[in-house]
Amino acid sequence: MRHDHDPDGEQTNSRRAFIRRSSVGMTAALVATTGAGAASAAPVSPVQKARAAGRPLAVTPACDGHETPAAMEGPLFKPQSPERTDLVTPAIRGVRLDLSGIVYDTACKPLPGALIEFWQCDQNGDYDTAGFSLRGHQYTDGRGAFGLRTIIPRDYWGRWGQRAPHIHTQVQAPGGPALITQLYFPDDTQAYGRDFAALNAADRLINRACTITLAGPKGGRYTGAFDFVIQTTAT
Ligand SMILES: [Fe+2]
Repeated sequence: MRHDHDPDGEQTNSRRAFIRRSSVGMTAALVATTGAGAASAAPVSPVQKARAAGRPLAVTPACDGHETPAAMEGPLFKPQSPERTDLVTPAIRGVRLDLSGIVYDTACKPLPGALIEFWQCDQNGDYDTAGFSLRGHQYTDGRGAFGLRTIIPRDYWGRWGQRAPHIHTQVQAPGGPALITQLYFPDDTQAYGRDFAALNAADRLINRACTITLAGPKGGRYTGAFDFVIQTTAT
């Protein structure tokens, strides 16, 4: 089944100020490792350089303290998902993605024990509403880190038009408020023969500050990174 997103979520979408910098927190360390001796003056980001050189994009403890922008939850979240870090079951045959990152508070302190829920559609653009395929939750480890084995979701049509591929997430420090958002993919992502640049450009809900940093594909899978910055107390 294909599903629309909840129009009521627009309120959530506009409730917060979204004009904030991305929380993707790996730039500083990559600058440190790739900035010296750059041969070109072209405006190529350290992340792009690392990708071009085939280096892994290690998650680094870089954080600017800006809260990760929220986004609408949509109607397809299901409570009581299984606790697991691997969402790839035999029925899931999409383009593989290993996603990792760190959850920080707004003082850039890593948050152990933070709850992260993930839910997404499959390689056909379908959400599992009967079961828990491509749904799961986990807790950050002692370094505030998480890891997820999944696939790149496909785009789909819904009430909001054609949605660019995205992964729904909810992140919550112990006893803190939940941050609900959606993670997107770079324009040059290659999956399912789809034009991610066009899909991203046409998506009415996209927030590019929530774009996963991707490396690969290598060996048929992408490596992605995204760091969250969340409030730990209600404001
Ligand atoms: Fe969705």
